[in-house]
Amino acid sequence: MLTYFDTHAHLSDEKFDADRDAVIASLVPAGVARVIDVCCDAADWEKTRALADKHDFIYAAIGMHPHEAAHTTLSDLDAVKAVLQAYPKAVGLGEIGLDYHYDFAPREVQRAWFDAQLSLARELDVPVILHIREAFGDCMDILRAHKDGLKGEMHCFSGSVEIARECLDMGLYIAFGGAVTFKNANKLLDAAAYVPKERLLLETDCPYMTPVPHRGERNDPRGVIAVCEKLADLHRVSAAEMAQATWENANRLFGL
Ligand code: NI
Repeated sequence: MLTYFDTHAHLSDEKFDADRDAVIASLVPAGVARVIDVCCDAADWEKTRALADKHDFIYAAIGMHPHEAAHTTLSDLDAVKAVLQAYPKAVGLGEIGLDYHYDFAPREVQRAWFDAQLSLARELDVPVILHIREAFGDCMDILRAHKDGLKGEMHCFSGSVEIARECLDMGLYIAFGGAVTFKNANKLLDAAAYVPKERLLLETDCPYMTPVPHRGERNDPRGVIAVCEKLADLHRVSAAEMAQATWENANRLFGL
């Protein structure tokens, strides 16, 4: 059996309230041996922490999502910092970034909190988990200003080969999820084929981004298996080789 690392899940999401324990119990038997549960708002931290406390194989990330930027305060930033300093299983700062698709917060406010959290990540030497949607121009400008000492990953990558190349040049890893299995994913597949296997990560972003052929159903961390198979095909390697590479990459990035 292969071993997979889901680097981006939201198991604390309410969509798992009815059967969370059963879903979690199904993961290790399916080969999903490590999961990072991503907390997008300091106010939700206790839910993610409870999962990481209860299950050895679940780790945590915390950061203020760009969707939350309009109500983010300095005390949220302090809370994120305190968690990352005090809790050994909090291995990443994220998800942070810019989302100009939904624009739930003014763009200048999103940029300010993105910048502040990148500074915090470098101060603490913690990898960042980047959520960037329809905002690559501003994102790359801000990342360039922080590139010294920055480590992290582009989550749910949706950029071009050119953007992927610049991210790789900055030392970032690039994570792909269920979108690589969607029809009309040609541009995404070009980028996924371009990224060397030593810099790829698997993720689900569950309960969202369910891979084909289960579109319309809730996703869970077992969704990484279909993503791994697709990336293996693109790179003309076995699924076992891709699972092993992405497992090693994730552990290297997150210091596990
Ligand atoms: Ni997410």
